[in-house]
Amino acid sequence: MPTDPEARSPADDPERPGAEHWVPARHTLAALRRAAPDCRGCELWRDARHVVFSQGRASAAMMLIGEQPGDHEDTTGEPFVGPAGRLLDEALDAAHIDRESTYLTNAVKHFRHHVSGKRRIHDKPEVGNIVACHPWLEAEFEVVHPQVVVCLGATAVRAVLGRSIPITRSRGQRFDGPDAAPDAAVFVTTHPSAVLRLRGKDAFDEAFDRFVADLETAASAVG
Ligand code: URA
Ligand code: SF4
Repeated sequence: MPTDPEARSPADDPERPGAEHWVPARHTLAALRRAAPDCRGCELWRDARHVVFSQGRASAAMMLIGEQPGDHEDTTGEPFVGPAGRLLDEALDAAHIDRESTYLTNAVKHFRHHVSGKRRIHDKPEVGNIVACHPWLEAEFEVVHPQVVVCLGATAVRAVLGRSIPITRSRGQRFDGPDAAPDAAVFVTTHPSAVLRLRGKDAFDEAFDRFVADLETAASAVG
């Protein structure tokens, strides 16, 4: 992954040694899933209930990458099962994409949050968490060999492309695959939570339709 002046190298940070040490040498999805709960590549495992690895098969042609698990995902251990996941399901349906046929994962595998009273409030992962967790994503690319990668929001974009780019200007465009999946076509779209926040407002329909259109564009690149 290209270096980024914002990111301290995980090796420099004792709190964030990076996931390399915990990623098994023999990459199969089953081996990765078995190993992920032991990861101590950054501090986020400490306050989380579950690692949330991924859902889907190694044979999937399309890989969808979110940000990090939310409260529901942390509780169940499954990606995209909370409100953002339901919005994603609606959009996949509208785009005629079968969720079961996709591989669904996150850039960061543990829930970054803080506690306020009884609530656990989402905090965006830092670049250092994205960098620390990247070896898992690389291993997933190597196992799944996706034809198409869809980055859902800025964190996934940063994790996959190694740099931050504005989503409004780049959605609909096709980017080259990262080193671990050089043949993949990469597409960028909004995070379903951003669409969800507009529910009930005038802007919702347009945001939802654009999200669906981005998913359709990505699906059309599956050969
Ligand atoms: N948001 C994400 O980015 N990923 C999930 O798994 C759930 C919510
Ligand atoms: Fe490991 Fe990623 Fe969890 Fe950090 S967020 S402990 S790197 S799995």
